[in-house]
Amino acid sequence: MNCVILGSGKGSNAEAILKAWNQQFLGNTKIKAILSDKPDAQILKVADSFGIPARHINMDQDSAYISSEESKTLFEIINEYSPNLIVLAGFMKILPVNFIYKFKGQIINIHPSLLPSFKGLNAIKRAFDHGVKITGCTVHMVTEKIDDGKIIAQAPVRVMETDSLESVTQKIQAAEHVLLPTVIAKISQEYSHHTE
Ligand code: GRF
Repeated sequence: MNCVILGSGKGSNAEAILKAWNQQFLGNTKIKAILSDKPDAQILKVADSFGIPARHINMDQDSAYISSEESKTLFEIINEYSPNLIVLAGFMKILPVNFIYKFKGQIINIHPSLLPSFKGLNAIKRAFDHGVKITGCTVHMVTEKIDDGKIIAQAPVRVMETDSLESVTQKIQAAEHVLLPTVIAKISQEYSHHTE
């Protein structure tokens, strides 16, 4: 199963995926490339350190959206890797609808809340400020609506009286680093089953 990871940030989820992959936890998954819209994103260095092709895709840094020209380039680059699974791991751009349709049912995202609560940006802070006692993270299918596709898996995180925004963030990220590789392993198992 060919997998491409897209991200814009520090790449801790990508690192967790690559560690799991190194330890042969991801079945027949092949991590083909890591792509980022940010030229200096740490996630590209993570890819380098694991010997995975790391590519920056030039995109307007001032917009959350991807233009049709950028989308065409993104599609062409991704297609080079014939992906069966595209993992959004902290990718901060909104994918265009036609891109999502081209890879229908093959794109997953990790979000730092228990969806459908706290969709969108700054989810951890908004949940914490709201006083939630249980939060967590969700892996879901990507559809044209943001953070709205079918939920694949979730991990809960308790918020204790003694917790701060920082400690809750750490707990959620630790949960993400287990959840996302676990989901990829499961998808790869299903994929092998279908292609046998
Ligand atoms: C994660 O918290 C993820 O839930 C959100 O963006 C963050 C990415 O972190 N979508 P990292 O780049 O994987 O460290």
